[in-house]
Amino acid sequence: MSSLTPDQLKAQAAQTAVEFVQDGHVLGLGTGSTVHHFLTALGKRLQSGLRVRGVPTSQATASYATQLGIPLIDNDKIWDIDVAVDGADQVDPQLHLIKGGGGALLREKIVARAARQFIVIVDEAKHVSQLGLPFPLPVEILPFGWRTTQGHLETMGWLAARREQAGQPFVTDNGNFIVDLHISHIDDPASLESTLRQIPGVVECGLFVHMTSLVITGTEQGPRLTRAPQTSHP
Ligand code: 5RP
Repeated sequence: MSSLTPDQLKAQAAQTAVEFVQDGHVLGLGTGSTVHHFLTALGKRLQSGLRVRGVPTSQATASYATQLGIPLIDNDKIWDIDVAVDGADQVDPQLHLIKGGGGALLREKIVARAARQFIVIVDEAKHVSQLGLPFPLPVEILPFGWRTTQGHLETMGWLAARREQAGQPFVTDNGNFIVDLHISHIDDPASLESTLRQIPGVVECGLFVHMTSLVITGTEQGPRLTRAPQTSHP
């Protein structure tokens, strides 16, 4: 019988991730409720003298980081990120991910790719044997011709639902829409990622393949660390 809530497990993973942060680090700051815990814990370390700078992956993260006094690096610099820390919606045994539940997948992928280490923080429930439903795959698409792009995705055999919020289309920080693709089993995440990217109007998808360096999972028994054998990072 579980005694820790999913939120407590997220907080546990986030606290552990903060221990990987070193003085002087440039950090990629992900998006979501698990990252919120990470930022809170990081803010406490800043109060005890730690110096870091951050690259935020969303307006929400930028705003909370600013509130905590975490200095942010502007957009016109080439980002040289030591560690990016982010949550995930699903993690498979190869540490491939589905991300984008919060709609920040494009910026998250740009920042993760610019980082030497990509640390993913999750609660146990995010681990799956195979990516796919019940979590639909978020795909960011341009509003221009969105119905046509959605049609291309549907022609490939998937239900492709434009995401809504309070009865309105959900709009990303980049001014785009999100379509949630209902795919029951994602057998080959790398090939699906490349197929989706070839569709005009698709900006990015929420598959993160061979990007993860380390997954920190909050569990009833304490944090569990799973390292990737290798990543495609520089
Ligand atoms: C946002 C994301 C989040 O990292 C993902 O949705 C996990 O969120 P949470 O930490 O709230 O469970 O990809 O685009």
